[in-house]
Order: sequence, then structure tokens, then C-alpha cells
Amino acid sequence: MSFSLPKLPYAYDSLEPYIDSQTMKIHYNKHHQAYTDKLNTSLDGNTEYRSKTIEALLSNLNAVPEPIRLAVRNNGGVYFNHCFFWEIMAPKAGGAPPAGSAIAEAIAKEFGSFEAFREKFSNAAVNHFGSGWAWLVLDKGKLEVLSLPNQDCPLSIGKKPLLCVDVWEHAYYLKYQNRRAEYVKEFFNVINWKKAEELYQRARQ
Ligand SMILES: [Fe+2]
Repeated sequence: MSFSLPKLPYAYDSLEPYIDSQTMKIHYNKHHQAYTDKLNTSLDGNTEYRSKTIEALLSNLNAVPEPIRLAVRNNGGVYFNHCFFWEIMAPKAGGAPPAGSAIAEAIAKEFGSFEAFREKFSNAAVNHFGSGWAWLVLDKGKLEVLSLPNQDCPLSIGKKPLLCVDVWEHAYYLKYQNRRAEYVKEFFNVINWKKAEELYQRARQ
């Protein structure tokens, strides 16, 4: 058993013009593949951990042997984050979550409106210093927007991920160069709210 690159749920060019085909190809085939390989390599001496789910590993890092804990946190975190990121985007998606959906109601309740949420999430992504991710998570039944550095994953701090955007430069530089704010604005055109709703329904149980 080993971790493998998940199947991309759409064609490389299907998130155009917001996420370009070339970025998708390199991001998925080169970056995510390399992270997957590194995760497996970090478990070479502890192959029993390869049969666990990545969620189980990241949710309980203290159960991972200390000598490989940091490698699993980093390589496992970035492996999971990318798996999650592909799923939370979709062609012909985006906009606001469907009216009446549980996540739409939760967003309105927690942030005041979808527009207020969009601003908060975008600010977290745009203003995050250096590489990392912005997230919408559920924490003890409450929605929260946060950004995390580098490879860190909300599962490792007890929060349940519902939405994320990758703000490493490799996620946007080919198309947007240094214009992270424009990338984040366009990201809202590809958010898979159907998936986010599924995750929210599961997370709040
Ligand atoms: Fe990435």
C-alpha cells in the first residue's frame, strides 16, 4: 500500500479561463506527484502507516513516531491539501452557495452575508504572508476563516475543512504572475459549493 495521486475529477482545461490548463497540468502532475512521492518516502521505514487514511494520520500526529512526525505533517499535509483543493473546484461552478443550502445559511449566520464571507476569505488568502492556504473550516460547530502557512492542514489542529484556496505561487504565477488578489477573485468562479455542502453536512454531524 502507498499513497497515490488521486484522479483529477475534470480535464486540465475545464477550469479555464480562471485556472489555466498549463498551471493545472504542472500543479497536478509535477507538484502534487512530488508531494505524494515524498509522503511515501517519509513512510519507507514505517510502511504500516501507509495503510491508514491521510485524514487519520493528520488528525492524530502524536500517534506517528517522533522521528518521522515532522515529515508526515509536512508531506502528508500538502498531499491532503491538494487532494482537497482539486475536489473543491469544479467546472461550471462558483458564485454563491445555492440559496437554502445548509452551508449558505451557516455562512449568512456566521458572517452576516455571503459578500461579507467572500471579503473575509479573500482577505485571508491575499494577505497571507508567503506560501500557504486560506480555509473555511468548521470548529466545534462554528464556521471560521483562517489561513495556515506552508503545508499545514486544519485536520492537525482539530478543525474540519470545508473550502480552501492554494496561495503558493505555483498555483497562480503562470497566469496571474504576482497578482494574487486577481487569482483569488477568479477562484470564486470555480468553487464547488455542492462539494462544500456535502462536507458541511458531514462535518456538523
Ligand atoms: Fe499547490
